[in-house]
Amino acid sequence: MIDDIRAAQQTALDRIAAATTLDDVTALAGQLLGKRGDLAQLKTRLGALATVDDKKAAGQALNEATAETSAALDERRSALAGQERAARIEAERLDLTEILTRPRRGHAHIVTQAWERLEDVFVGLGFQVAEGPEVETDWHNFEALNMGVGHPARSDFDTLFVDHAGAPAGTTVLRTHTSPVQIRTMLDQEPPIYIVAPGRVFRRDTPDASHMPVFHQIEGLVVDRDISLAHLAGTIEAFTKAFFGTGFTSRLRPSYFPFTEPSGEFDIRTPSGEWLELGGCGMVHPDVLRAGGIDPEVWSGFAFGFGIDRMARERHAVSDIREMFTGDIRFSEQF
Ligand code: DAH
Repeated sequence: MIDDIRAAQQTALDRIAAATTLDDVTALAGQLLGKRGDLAQLKTRLGALATVDDKKAAGQALNEATAETSAALDERRSALAGQERAARIEAERLDLTEILTRPRRGHAHIVTQAWERLEDVFVGLGFQVAEGPEVETDWHNFEALNMGVGHPARSDFDTLFVDHAGAPAGTTVLRTHTSPVQIRTMLDQEPPIYIVAPGRVFRRDTPDASHMPVFHQIEGLVVDRDISLAHLAGTIEAFTKAFFGTGFTSRLRPSYFPFTEPSGEFDIRTPSGEWLELGGCGMVHPDVLRAGGIDPEVWSGFAFGFGIDRMARERHAVSDIREMFTGDIRFSEQF
C-alpha cells in the first residue's frame, strides 16, 4: 500500500513537472486531488488494511503525498504564471527609443533672422518698434517727405500705383520705402520719439542678382530736444558695433535726400578694412517735422533707413538675391 502511494505520488510529481501551461496545471489539479483522483482512490483502500498501525502509516503517507502534490501544483502554477507574464510583456513591448526618421526642425528664413536681430539690437539701444501699412497714400510716401508732385527725386522710386475705390488715380501706392512710417509715427505720438520700423517695400524693378521688386527695409527715427548730427553719428556707430561686432566701425558720407538736411549715406568698415555701403540718413528736414505736426523750432531729429535683405545676403554670402525668395527648402535649409 505504501509503495502504491509513493508510486502515485511520484507519477503526480512527474506529471506536474511536465505541465507546460497554466491550463494544464488546473486540469491536473482536478485529476490528482479531486474525488476521482489517484490519491482519493488509494484513500478508499485504507479501510481494508489489516492493522491500526498499517492504517496510520498509510494514512500518513497519503497525507504527505497529498501535501507534496498540492505544493508542487502551487509551485508549478506560479512558475508558469511568471513565464507567461514575461512572454506577454515581451510580446507587448514598445521600443520607444527607436528613431525611424531624422527629426526635422525648421528655422526662420534668413531675412526674418536679420529682421529680428535688428529689432533686438535697436530695442537694446532704447528704440521702440513701429509699423505702417504696405499700401500707402501718395501723401505719406512722397509729399509729406518733401517730394511734391513732379519732384525729380520721385523718379528714384519706380512706383507701383494701386487702384483704390474712391481715391483719385495715382494717389495710392505700394510704399516704396519705410520712410512714411516716420510721418505716421509723428502724427500718432508726441515727441520724444525713438522708433525703428522694419517692413516690406515695393518698387517696379525687374528682378536681377541684386534687386527684387519686393524687399525689406528698416527705418529709424529720433525726435527730441537738441538732437544733433553727433547723435546720429553716435547712434550709427553704437549700432554698428552692437550688430556687427566691436571690430567694425562706421562713417557718414555727404549725400542727398529730400526729407533730410543735411543728408548722408553711412558705410561700415569690416575688420579687414573693407567698406560696405549700408544706407541713407540725415537730420529730419523741418518741412517733414511740420508735416508730422511737430514744431521744428522746439524739436529736432534724425532718421536713417537701410535694406535688410542686403544685410542677410552679405552675412551669408548669397550670390543671387533671387535665390532668397524662391521658397526652395534646399536653399533655406543651408542656413
Ligand atoms: N528712404 C530711403 C530710400 O529708400 C532711405 C533713407 C534715407 C531713409 C535717408 C531715411 C533717411 O530715413 O534719412 O532710399
